[in-house]
Amino acid sequence: MKQNLSPLTYEQTRMKQYMSSMFTEDHKISDTFSLSERIVVYPGDCLEMLKAIPAESMQLIVTSPPYNIGKEYEKRLHPDLYLQQQAQVITECVRTLSPMGSICWQVGNYVDDGAIVPLDTVLYPIFAGFGLRMRNRIIWHFEHGLHCSRRFSGRYETIIWFTKSDEYVFNLDAVRVPQKYPGKKYFKGPKAGHYSCNPLGKNPGDLWVIPNVKSNHVEKTEHPCQFPVELIERLVLSLTNEGDWVLDPFLGTGTTVIAAIRHGRRGAGAETVTKYVKLACERIQQEIEGTLRTRPMDRPVYDPVAAGNSLTTAPWKKNTGQSALFERSPKYGKTTKQ
Ligand SMILES: C[S@@+](CC[C@H](N)C(=O)[O-])C[C@H]1O[C@@H](n2cnc3c(N)ncnc32)[C@H](O)[C@@H]1O
Repeated sequence: MKQNLSPLTYEQTRMKQYMSSMFTEDHKISDTFSLSERIVVYPGDCLEMLKAIPAESMQLIVTSPPYNIGKEYEKRLHPDLYLQQQAQVITECVRTLSPMGSICWQVGNYVDDGAIVPLDTVLYPIFAGFGLRMRNRIIWHFEHGLHCSRRFSGRYETIIWFTKSDEYVFNLDAVRVPQKYPGKKYFKGPKAGHYSCNPLGKNPGDLWVIPNVKSNHVEKTEHPCQFPVELIERLVLSLTNEGDWVLDPFLGTGTTVIAAIRHGRRGAGAETVTKYVKLACERIQQEIEGTLRTRPMDRPVYDPVAAGNSLTTAPWKKNTGQSALFERSPKYGKTTKQ
């Protein structure tokens, strides 16, 4: 299979040398895919790596592909060509997906002259065309991003989750979150007086509030579009078992592999840009050594008001601009005529 792949560029050859010098056999990061490995970072095109992956061997394929919006790592393409390229990758991903496996495609909007096209809506038919079954369209909500002036600022992206069959791995208990009212009891019926909630916690639902990786985030690197490790940990824990393979065709800074190996899974990914391959390897190595700083899965979202952050007090006078809306509420101490 290897001999069918296109020859390595000078940069890729240098990257191979760098990787082989950096890692010991114990936690080897391989640059070619084999089922006998545990960690694979393929420095090249994902379609090439996918060719080397046996059919039905991946339990979870999770990725955030380029959105075709002109980021430094992509060329803007005609939307039809972009979708064609995505379809090629998805076709290979479906081939490599285990019958009990899941595919999660994390996407935002394609923006064309100010008009948005939610990418999940145009990618959905490709997945459905393979007979995949959609289980959730998860809304990932975050609070930071571009400030738009001619539409509401985008503060969510989606993860579309598909399974190959109706028999699929779903470990809900592994990702339960704290109940809002753990002390609540049934007040009537045969269970009256007993606690009504699951003591293991509640289903996290399909709206996930998780900070995105912007400048103040502990995981921020020079990559413009990392996803946070905790986002992928939730998918790894719920959709795979220990020892399973987790694959990310558009690996970026290695987040998916980090989340996978942190929980005893195997991780593989491809990345074309040399500086990101290097970053991914460094971060994975730090994860192996226990030194990678990440935001913990169970940390509540920072609330600057509750934290007493002094910057939350507006320096400008009351009754102007932004504060006017709040001041109409009795909760804020003043009622004006509605
Ligand atoms: C949205 S970013 C993914 C970032 C990643 N989720 C992370 O946490 O770092 C998409 C990545 O795919 C890479 N990429 C683009 N085309 C690719 C291809 N054909 N094969 C492999 N990687 C590719 C880009 O260089 C970019 O780093």
